[in-house]
Amino acid sequence: MFNKVKDAINTRIINRLLDKKDIVRFSVNRNDRTGMLYKSWGLVFTDLIKGAYYEFGLYKGASFITSWKEYSKFRKWAVAQTKSDEFWRRQNIKDYINYRHDFYGFDTFEGMPANNEGSVTFHEKSFAGSFDEVDKQCRKAGMRYRLFKGLFSAIPKEEVRALEPAAIVNIDSDLYGSAWDALAIVRDKLQQGTILLMDDYNCFSSSDACGERRALREFCEKNPAYRFEPWMPYHFVGQAFLCHVEKS
Ligand SMILES: C[S@@+](CC[C@H](N)C(=O)[O-])C[C@H]1O[C@@H](n2cnc3c(N)ncnc32)[C@H](O)[C@@H]1O
Repeated sequence: MFNKVKDAINTRIINRLLDKKDIVRFSVNRNDRTGMLYKSWGLVFTDLIKGAYYEFGLYKGASFITSWKEYSKFRKWAVAQTKSDEFWRRQNIKDYINYRHDFYGFDTFEGMPANNEGSVTFHEKSFAGSFDEVDKQCRKAGMRYRLFKGLFSAIPKEEVRALEPAAIVNIDSDLYGSAWDALAIVRDKLQQGTILLMDDYNCFSSSDACGERRALREFCEKNPAYRFEPWMPYHFVGQAFLCHVEKS
């Protein structure tokens, strides 16, 4: 009984700490999705990378909104740098602070498309969300965002053309075909240093013949101008990459 109460109290304290916005050390040591998004935004702000956050596969919007929250910590930090008494810090951030990173989210909001990956988890219509609900949650979080509803493959090219280059691409749509379509959308948005998060990279027993692994392998074969350096694994099956653009 005593141990149960002790465990419950410990869990509450840990959850409070994890929720607390300014516990930076916690986020940097976390290896879950939140930690990965924190580290990604840390890299973006450290290297002063300009570009948007693209997320493919929103479901109920959890990681999309988490990304905004992690981003906001660095935005706050950057604003504070403008008042630093060290010249180089103020100089570094002077122009960058005027750049606002956009957040683009893509989903059917009706769940997984028909597919032949043979997974019960990812069968047609699983992970169905609601556009209105995600929209509401994003607004509530104070995000600067744009949602694209429909199959990735059906998003009009002229709409994509008008979007910002990519600072971070988060592909969380599980299936080979979906990851392939997502990569096709961002192909011309990739730049040196773009961070690619493949949330389901090691699904399907890490087989190169399935899922996101297959999509990235084929994408690289067809687009030799882009190389993806493995950065770090995260959560259970995720893998982060750093994009190199090897255009001559
Ligand atoms: C695992 S869920 C995403 C989880 C989400 N990132 C979160 O934080 O909870 C996968 C999502 O990808 C979407 N999806 C998969 N393939 C898609 C496609 N080809 N076009 C549009 N949406 C797709 C599904 O509708 C589903 O909502």
